[in-house]
Amino acid sequence: MDSSREQAFDALQRLAADEGSRDARAFFSEETDRVAAFTVRAAGLTADFSKQAVSSTARDRLVDAARASGLADAMTALAGGQPINVTEKRAASHMALRGTGGDVAGIRAAEAELSRVFDFAAAIRSGAHTGATGKPIRTILHIGIGGSDLGPRLVYKALMTGRDGPQIRFLASPDPGTLSRVTRELDPEETLVFIVSKSFGTAETRANALAAKAWLEAGLGGRDPAPHLAAASASPGAAAEFGVPREAVFDMWDWVGGRYSLWSSVSFSVICALGPDRFRELLAGAAELDRHFLEASWDRNLPVLMGLVAYWNRACLNRASQAVVPYAAPLALLPAWLQQLSMESLGKRVTPSGAPVPGETGAVIWGAEGPNGQHAFFQLLHQGTSIIPADLIAVIGRDGPEAHNRMMLANALAQAEALLKGRTAAEARDELLAKGTGEDEADRLAPHLEMPGGRPTSFIALDRLDAHCVGALLALYEHAVFVQSVLYRVNAFDQYGVELGKTLASALETELETGATGAHDPSTQAWLDRLRKQSR
Ligand code: F6P
Repeated sequence: MDSSREQAFDALQRLAADEGSRDARAFFSEETDRVAAFTVRAAGLTADFSKQAVSSTARDRLVDAARASGLADAMTALAGGQPINVTEKRAASHMALRGTGGDVAGIRAAEAELSRVFDFAAAIRSGAHTGATGKPIRTILHIGIGGSDLGPRLVYKALMTGRDGPQIRFLASPDPGTLSRVTRELDPEETLVFIVSKSFGTAETRANALAAKAWLEAGLGGRDPAPHLAAASASPGAAAEFGVPREAVFDMWDWVGGRYSLWSSVSFSVICALGPDRFRELLAGAAELDRHFLEASWDRNLPVLMGLVAYWNRACLNRASQAVVPYAAPLALLPAWLQQLSMESLGKRVTPSGAPVPGETGAVIWGAEGPNGQHAFFQLLHQGTSIIPADLIAVIGRDGPEAHNRMMLANALAQAEALLKGRTAAEARDELLAKGTGEDEADRLAPHLEMPGGRPTSFIALDRLDAHCVGALLALYEHAVFVQSVLYRVNAFDQYGVELGKTLASALETELETGATGAHDPSTQAWLDRLRKQSR
């Protein structure tokens, strides 16, 4: 580690030791402009980090650490399409998909591919493209997994209105019951199967794609299913070999990671459903956030601050997990999408040179929609022994009954307030006495009603639930994860950790099928024996 970096990180650790037991309540009383200083607006989003346990001094030290870590150069390299995915020797040019980064060739390729996607989507939406029996396409069966599923699924659920183009059904799991449950409601003559796989080699996706093709063939009475197939892949040859007509195969590139790919042809199904204009708005929202990320000073920079806060919580205060809680049902899939984005990007243990990372990396990301969560896991956030930072995501302008929107906003704010404020045992006792509880009973119950408070939250509000704000929100998280990766000094863009499981699964599948035996630990071997006996 060079000495300026070492000094910046030593200063950070010393500050964490000094301030680690304090929380935002103390900082509010010491810092007069705290709310304004920790609230940033960009691209239709307003984020308030003032309830986090980060003092203004800690923020400044974090900015120093980011500077000493080379964040400025890293941002330039990211936006400039340099091969920052050092293990795979590739760029990570998802910003090229929204015209704000990557090299000129990348931006041109992305634009050209998007216009092919738009053309085909227009033919589907207008009914000009029909299935093998001449019927228009009314449903798209989107088959993909991980980044080839979660992003498009989230965007569709977030923005669908019920008055859109073809409906989308998503199929990720090869679970034996899922395909038949999904296809039971579909008419093969009116269905287009869209296969999304960057590699076109992912076992689960292949299995589902083969089964869906067989379902089409059976349902079309032996007619060629080609007009019912489309694909997005960085291996277009493999997609064509599978039987997808070349004109319905859309390119992805190795310079876009799977978990960063929703901005590309991977969202063909979403474009068919929502239309090109709303997809352009999604890209525009992300692009506006990109520009803010690249241009705003770091103490007023939404993704930089979000990344620094997350780093402080994990690496300096040892908060092992982080909750993500949308107060908007259409954003219910945000935690699942973010789980892949963050945990696949930051779940690393070595620096680019292969040396061990000195501290902790990457929090466990989890969460669910707010209203139900409040009546379930929030108990642990309020009174559990671990401190779990939470992002509460609200929408200011919503269609629908005003009273319901007010209720959602009030609940999101109330949870943030309660998590911070807490309740002392004395306050609890007084409340009980005021309700007429006897003294002895109040003494007995007070410790159970006590809440420590000081629990950190970020409050993130979208102006509206529209494509622009959703695009900005997703780009915000992408960049915040990138900022963390620079501070941790890990490569955010590979995912070797998932490979071993895939290899072993394929070997075990063969062993289950053929009865062959490999070398296994005793537990795995016992399960193999049991499963083989039961399937006989
Ligand atoms: O197994 C992890 C992973 O490679 C993810 O990174 C990716 O999003 C997913 O699998 C699907 O991969 P593909 O698009 O190549 O099928």
